[in-house]
Amino acid sequence: MNVDSKMANVAVIGAQWGDEGKGKVVDLFSDKADIVVRFGGGNNAGHTLVVDGRKTVLHLVPSGALHAHKLCIIGNGVVVDPEVLLEEIRGLKENGFLLDDSLLRVSEEAHLIMPYHKSIDLARERLRGKGKIGTTGRGIGPAYEDKVGRVGIRFVDFLEEDTFRDKLRHNIEEKNLYLKAILKEKTLQFDEIHEAYCGYREKIRKYVANTTLVLEKEIKAGKKVLFEGAQGTLLDVDHGTYPYVTSSSTVSGGVCTGAGLGPQNIHQIIGISKAYTTRVGSGPFPTELQGPEEQKLREEGEEFGATTGRPRRCGWFDAVGVRHAIRINGMTGLALTKLDILTGFKKIQICTAYRYDDQDHREFPSSLRAMERAQPVWEEMEGWNEALSAAREFTDLPIQAQRYVRRLEEILAIPMVLISVGPGREQTILLKNPFH
Ligand code: IMP
Repeated sequence: MNVDSKMANVAVIGAQWGDEGKGKVVDLFSDKADIVVRFGGGNNAGHTLVVDGRKTVLHLVPSGALHAHKLCIIGNGVVVDPEVLLEEIRGLKENGFLLDDSLLRVSEEAHLIMPYHKSIDLARERLRGKGKIGTTGRGIGPAYEDKVGRVGIRFVDFLEEDTFRDKLRHNIEEKNLYLKAILKEKTLQFDEIHEAYCGYREKIRKYVANTTLVLEKEIKAGKKVLFEGAQGTLLDVDHGTYPYVTSSSTVSGGVCTGAGLGPQNIHQIIGISKAYTTRVGSGPFPTELQGPEEQKLREEGEEFGATTGRPRRCGWFDAVGVRHAIRINGMTGLALTKLDILTGFKKIQICTAYRYDDQDHREFPSSLRAMERAQPVWEEMEGWNEALSAAREFTDLPIQAQRYVRRLEEILAIPMVLISVGPGREQTILLKNPFH
């Protein structure tokens, strides 16, 4: 696959419930970008990349780190667990990546995930019992709550010892009351946390910068930027299956707030979707399968969470959800991943509408109850038995697979720009260069 070097700034956004294979697509496109930016989420994300047969999972550092000389930026919209970040940097360096520290920049306005965020996240999930959201338990929701509640600790606060100490002391007092009285949870010690975080601070200091200025300067100098989405549109806090969502803006609009630049700086918005659907955690999932078909998708697709190892729920392609994602993000093209996993199914289904209240609905409902009642309206396609992993051109695909892709383009009214037929960089069919 060969991506032209004359590319615009591109955002890569999940069109489903996360885990669409954004890591691989971002990795491919990183090759032609100068800068790769994460703009939201935290270490709830897990991007699995296979380079030269070696698997690397990144949670916070943008996937550009696996290419030489790329500037990687963790934007202000990201929530950062410093312990996890340092561990990831250590692992990357150990494998020969990120050897130049000036190639990683962390926004001074990004918020820190603190131990109380994790305690609160886990305790609330436990108390919710059956109604739990199924969070990753990484403290993401409580960290964003503190940000919006104006009590969060940003990197710029972290670097100022007095500010950090005061904020931490105040927060721990308040969180301990909540942990003890409401959540019936163990309280936390100021000294312990303060000492550990001061240790992280000295190692992280060199990466912290005003990344909005860095980006402005680089874009003015003609550098090309790739914005790396995390999670997916259907997990977006505004446009997803609320409350079964994550706590950040996962959509293209989140690029502007989470990286600190205007929308005119984003030229292409590429959606990433699997050729089927998966979801990890709780919440409605109309096309979910049960039984041997689900098992086949999970096993062949190795559908286990990159962050938590949880088995993912699997189902057929949901065109209602993906159409919603295309509209909300203004997607200009779609990359279809894991088409190879559909090999061996006699029939393949596409959900073209939801049926509830005795009517077919083509639009994604905002109501959780409607989503829970929605029954898929199926369109059936012929399957194929040939393995796809060696295909490099569209015409290498069996005719049934070609028809499936073309039908998805029609139903979704969007061009496919890329098809992935395996985890390796080379297992890719480029249909249209998104960068022209
Ligand atoms: P949180 O982001 O840990 O608060 O989890 C909220 C919901 O988003 C849960 O259903 C998680 O399973 C889901 N989620 C968060 N991050 C990811 C991801 O990167 N891939 C897939 N699901 C995710």
